[in-house]
Formats: sequence, structure tokens, C-alpha cells
Amino acid sequence: MIELSAKAVSHPNIAFIKYWGNRDSSLRIPVNGSISMNLAELETITTVTFTPSLSADQLTLNGKKADPGQVQRVTDFLDIIRKMAGFNFFADVVSTNNFPTGAGIASSAAAFSALALAGSKAAGLELDEKTLTRLARRGSGSASRSIPDGFVEWLPGSTDEDSYSISLASASSWDLRDVIAVVAADEKKTGSSEGHGLAGTSPFQTTRVADAPRRLSICREAIISHDFDKLAAVMELDSDMMHAVMMTSTPALFYWEPASLRIIKSVPMWRNQGIPCAYTVDAGPNVHILCPASSKDDISSRLSNMDGVVTVLETSAGGPARLLEK
Ligand code: DP6
Repeated sequence: MIELSAKAVSHPNIAFIKYWGNRDSSLRIPVNGSISMNLAELETITTVTFTPSLSADQLTLNGKKADPGQVQRVTDFLDIIRKMAGFNFFADVVSTNNFPTGAGIASSAAAFSALALAGSKAAGLELDEKTLTRLARRGSGSASRSIPDGFVEWLPGSTDEDSYSISLASASSWDLRDVIAVVAADEKKTGSSEGHGLAGTSPFQTTRVADAPRRLSICREAIISHDFDKLAAVMELDSDMMHAVMMTSTPALFYWEPASLRIIKSVPMWRNQGIPCAYTVDAGPNVHILCPASSKDDISSRLSNMDGVVTVLETSAGGPARLLEK
């Protein structure tokens, strides 16, 4: 009997040019393209086993039975794979992250890229990279960018076929670091999926989207030419533009905590002191500081001494999602 099982590992990514808002939310076709870097030291390992005797999908996350909402999202995703493979078996899915849960490190990118790879392989499908990026996108938009190697661009497209991701440069091409300041927050934040649905209510979203091709082009050039100053300027602008949209949507979304803002205001000062670094913030209070390898120790110790910073994680550019021996 063939074993309908496979295991894969994948990294989360940090976006330099952000995805915020969909033109088709069920297919996750974004309103603008985005560019990110995979994070090597952080990973999700997922095993998928399709089992004829199961009467529903099962999901274990970090050793614990997942809640019904999480299982439903996985079932909806596995339904796409079952349709492609032409069978109806339910699956046992076991997934573990090596990074702290609840630390606000976006795990859906790593989760759905690993699930796309392990799930499709377990179902007997041999998908090429482009098709895998399209499949991962259906689970979580940013997961599309965690399939290819290193520095990755998600080409927005306008249909399921032409919305996919490509590697712009390999992980080994540029030794950039992401020093992550994990910031304490007491409120439960609005998740990305819900946030994408609110983006269009901000009067600034149209302007942000219209200017996206210009920012994407600057970011692409910066990555190819290893121009850190160019990357720093466009990355901070893009993050601020996304948060301006978030803060002016209805209802308004404020993700920054006082400590986030303290870091956002410190980074340009550190740069003026001659330490190359640049910030970016996703849909949460943590601040990612991108820098060349030579300034990561300095940044790490400055962050560790700041009020409201719970942990500092040091990461570097990561490779593509890949299958593991079981
Ligand atoms: C702010 O990919 O998490 O991190 O497609 O609903 O799963 P879903 O959203 P998700 O959104 C990511 C938003 C972001 C920016 C980015 O990573 O581009």
C-alpha cells in the first residue's frame, strides 16, 4: 500500500513591501504585489498523513489539539488538495514551530507553506514551485512567499493562475539580518485575514496601492544591488503607509504599543550615529530591524535594554520550503 504521508519544513518571512488588502478574498488575490525575506532560524515542521479510516481532519499544533477554527481553516485548505488529487480521505496534520507561540511572530506563512508542500506530496501530487506558491497562497497570502528561496516577490496578478511568487535572489546572495524585538501587548489583536477586509475602508488605501509599483521597483533594485540605504528608505515608508491605512480604517486598527513607537523613533537616530538599520512592523506590536550582519550585535543589545521589549530574536535570510525524510 502507498503511504499517503509527507513531512515538510518552512520558514516565516518578513515583508519589506507589504500585502494589505485583497481584490478577491476567497482566492486571496492581493490588491498589490509584495516582497519579503524568509527567516532562516525560525521554522515550522508539518507532517500530513491522509488516512482512509478518519472521519474528519485532525490537527495538532505544538503538541496540543488545535481549536475548531484552526481545524476548519486547515480543512478548507486540504479540500483544495483533495480536489486536485481526486480523493476524499481526511488527514492527520501534526505541526510544530521552533519559535514561541503567542510571541506575535506571524506563523501562518510558515504554517501554510509547509502544509502546501507536505499535503500535496502526501496526496501524490508533484507540483512545481510556481504551482506550490499558488496553492500556499490559498491558505494564507504571505505563505506564497515562503515557498521560494531567500528574497521573494509575490506577483499580484488578477486570477488564480497569475497570482504567484518568485525568488528575486537567493538567501546566500546577501547577508541581511532581521533582529526582532518582541514587544509585550495585552490586547488580542485583529488578525490579518480580518484586517485585509477592512483595508478598503481607509481613504489612504487607494493611494498606497497606486504607489505600490514604484515602491516594489525600488525594493527590487535595492535587493539586486545590495543597496542597504535604498532598502531602508523604501521599507520604512512602506511599513508606515500600511500602518497609516490600518489606523484610518473603520474600525481603526492600532497595532503599535508604546515600546513599538520607542523603537520606531530610535532606529533613524541609530542610523544617524552610523549604524545601518531599518524598521518594519506587521499586524502586531513587534518591530523587525533589518541590518547588515556587522550591526546586528549592537542592535540586539540596544533593543534588549529597552523598556517593553520581552525578547530579541536574531534571524538571517532563509532558504525555500523543503521536504524532509520522515
Ligand atoms: C501585515 O498573509 O497573514 O504581515 O492571507 O489572511 O492569511 P492571510 O493574511 P497574511 O497577511 C500578512 C499581512 C502582513 C504583511 C505581509 O506579510 O505582507
